[in-house]
Amino acid sequence: MRSPAETLTCTVNGRPVELHVEPARRLADVLRDDLGLTGTKIGCNAGDCGACTILLDGCQVCACMVPAAQASGCCVTTVEGLAEDGALAPLQRAFLYHGAAQCGICTPGMLMAAADLLARNPHPTEPEVLDALGGVLCRCTGYRKIVEAVLDVRDGAVPPVSAEGGAVGARMVKVDGLAKLMGTELFGADTLPDEPVLTLRAVRSPHAHARFAIGDLASLFSAHPGLCRLLTAADIPGRNLYGIYPTGKDQPVLAEGLARYRGEAICALLGDAETVAAIRDEELPVVWDVLSSVTFDTARAASPLHTHAPGNVLCTGRVVSGDVERGLADAAAIVEITVETSFVEHAYIEPEAGYARRVGERIEVVACTQTPYMDRDELAGILGIAPEQVRVIPTAVGGGFGGKLDLSMQPLVAVAAWLTGRPVRMVYTRPESMAATTKRHPARIQATAAADADGRLRAVRFHGDFNTGAYASWGPTVANRVPVHATGPYAVPHVACTTAALHTNDPPAGAFRGFGVPQAAIATEALMDMLAEQLSLDPLEFRSGNALREDLTTATGQRLGAGAALPECLDALRPRWRALRREAEELNRNTATPIRRGVGIACMWYGIGNTSLANPSEMEIALTREGRVVLFSGAVDIGQGSNTIMLQIAADALGIPVDRIELVAGDTDRTLDAGKTSASRQTFVSGNAARLAGIALQEEILRRANAGPEARIALEPGVVTMTHDGVISRVELASLPADAEGIVLRARGRFDPPTTMLDKDGQGIPYASYAFAAQIAVVDVDTSLGTVAARRIVAAHDVGRAINPTLVEGQIHGGIAQGLGLALMEEYVPGRTENLHDYLIPTIGDIPPIETILIEQQDPLGPYGAKGVGEPALIATAPAILNAIAHATGKRITRVPATPDRVLAALQS
Ligand code: FES
Ligand code: FES
Repeated sequence: MRSPAETLTCTVNGRPVELHVEPARRLADVLRDDLGLTGTKIGCNAGDCGACTILLDGCQVCACMVPAAQASGCCVTTVEGLAEDGALAPLQRAFLYHGAAQCGICTPGMLMAAADLLARNPHPTEPEVLDALGGVLCRCTGYRKIVEAVLDVRDGAVPPVSAEGGAVGARMVKVDGLAKLMGTELFGADTLPDEPVLTLRAVRSPHAHARFAIGDLASLFSAHPGLCRLLTAADIPGRNLYGIYPTGKDQPVLAEGLARYRGEAICALLGDAETVAAIRDEELPVVWDVLSSVTFDTARAASPLHTHAPGNVLCTGRVVSGDVERGLADAAAIVEITVETSFVEHAYIEPEAGYARRVGERIEVVACTQTPYMDRDELAGILGIAPEQVRVIPTAVGGGFGGKLDLSMQPLVAVAAWLTGRPVRMVYTRPESMAATTKRHPARIQATAAADADGRLRAVRFHGDFNTGAYASWGPTVANRVPVHATGPYAVPHVACTTAALHTNDPPAGAFRGFGVPQAAIATEALMDMLAEQLSLDPLEFRSGNALREDLTTATGQRLGAGAALPECLDALRPRWRALRREAEELNRNTATPIRRGVGIACMWYGIGNTSLANPSEMEIALTREGRVVLFSGAVDIGQGSNTIMLQIAADALGIPVDRIELVAGDTDRTLDAGKTSASRQTFVSGNAARLAGIALQEEILRRANAGPEARIALEPGVVTMTHDGVISRVELASLPADAEGIVLRARGRFDPPTTMLDKDGQGIPYASYAFAAQIAVVDVDTSLGTVAARRIVAAHDVGRAINPTLVEGQIHGGIAQGLGLALMEEYVPGRTENLHDYLIPTIGDIPPIETILIEQQDPLGPYGAKGVGEPALIATAPAILNAIAHATGKRITRVPATPDRVLAALQS
């Protein structure tokens, strides 16, 4: 029952405001919807994430939990009110300088919490900073850059920031950083078409496996006049199936009489926002016939969920070389392990959101996504139209990590807008986002490793079952990528690594930072420690002696060549390793408390880009008649900084300062297909495309002036000058024919990493480049409670070349935070942890100091030598932490996350 609107007055960002609102409405909604202050973000609407943090009379509050009436007579300050006379406040400048805003969706809340702290306490200690910011979750940054930024403001040490001088290797600030800090960046839920919009809400299955029938809807419509349409599977104009692979379209937009997981959409309500929100699912005439569920335990024996997957085996993967049985039989030391991991939720702070509108015989979809061109092609199939009739315009993305590679709300809004001819909008709720979208695959891994007496690895046998849930999604990618990586980054002569992706009635498991490799690394890196222990060797030295290096061959038969710098990563860690191990052993000898310190190490490798598949990216760069340069980049920046990286690379390739290049990003009508933002590929693959485009435009300009390649290019209004040996030549741009956009010269760059198909034994060249890393984790285990606190992480990463060291460090910090969550706390259980209260992700207080060491040994194929770092950042962290727990306690945790109950059980076993 709605209460009548009341008039209330307050001050918002220093301006008196009179509002006519229902007193119980959420203040966050009033700020966003009535006042257009969309800098206040909604991540959960439940007081859990802090994205909506504002100041109410100077104190931080979650605006989603404050009724509008409570603001009456108060001073409200939002992120839009933080800047001083239009200039960034010191706090905002410090965030920009440190790269403390990645995707930026949490940034307004972080800034407001920090502003509250600094106003009350201008000289906070670090623990006071952690305490004050503890209510705001960030999924991208790993928090440390945020802490550094706040401490800089405390110390009055905020340097001036500028976007100039952004050549490759420079710590240039993000080109899109300003909007994130001012609160003007528009995410999926912040964008609306100009025309009135219909709201869509999906009705979802409360059952993991059930048949259903929807009855007569007449009474629903008469009870709710604001409901204009209910969509079912029968309304899908084209193919009611989508999926990642051309042969794997198995997921319906709306289920057709059979729901295969809890959270699957069965129909969609379309109407005004208040009506569709008010309708309770129980009001719908749906008759359910609940079926027994296929679980990870029962999958192989149960009836198949899909006819194309007998035994519920979606697909398998395999890499075999040498003779693993002989390798195991001959060995001096042999160890084995069984590891089980859980569903892990992406938990990006921005729930899925966007809208669609029909424009004649075309559809436009404006939404958060990691993959605009794949979305375009899938939507075309669903609507039964040509891909060229679909335009996808990505909004800013408030975190993705793989979870926004799959379609979510886009098919529903596209179908609804197509059918009604009216713009249609959808914003997922937090529980909906968590229940309906993909997860990290739970894994069950059995692995064995063997070594010679002198510590040389002989053999690895590995099998992993991966719970791919109800639909294929990225299951085949996981099944194919894991066997390649399952030896770890080590030279092993005898290998048999296999995988299977199994269907169950769980949510679809898809892409999540690492595609199964993080789960595999937990098993492999435990085996490395166990072998070292059996042979009485130091764990770092054992790894160093077996590390893949440029003259060695992988289990797929690929000779690595230059740019394989794991030995250098381990060399960089060695002094810290020895000192930290000594310190821990000393500490444990002398303590009278139940706290035991442990120091663990783990290594990782990661193939950049798709596994043995074409993986091209294409970029365009143009020169306008006025002398502006525009980079048209289809690479979606999901917070990692690819917008900045592409400009830095293109600027150096073209030979001009980076601030002379404008960016058009992502729109499928305006940019070429740069492929998806996944598999750590954008810097390596799209960076190469940007470099080649820059070179091509430079060549074209030089050719017009008959200038040699050594000539320096300079842009002036309407003219390009080239200077060499004191000789100046000019190209008058007004003399060149221009297209409708005023562009006089265009050039393209395309790059597709050279790979080969793998044969039946997985032999071939699956990736053109690999990233390597080694990390040390220091933990304290409370042996009476089973709790584990990370105290320090040291991470050495072979990044080829750091195009922008600040952004690279940010990726490493963020990956480490997610790796820590994987190791210690994150476990998604359908129906039980569908919110950010019950599903725990690391908070600012969970992340210890992180030391990053960048190893820059250039990759011959990388743009200016660079490789990807997005996923490599995460992979070594969980095994390093688990190895540290084993070092501290002598007990190995094989079921992750290592929650206190599991640690205690292991200690008592
Ligand atoms: S949106 Fe308010 S706390 Fe999450
Ligand atoms: S930058 Fe904090 S959630 Fe993305």
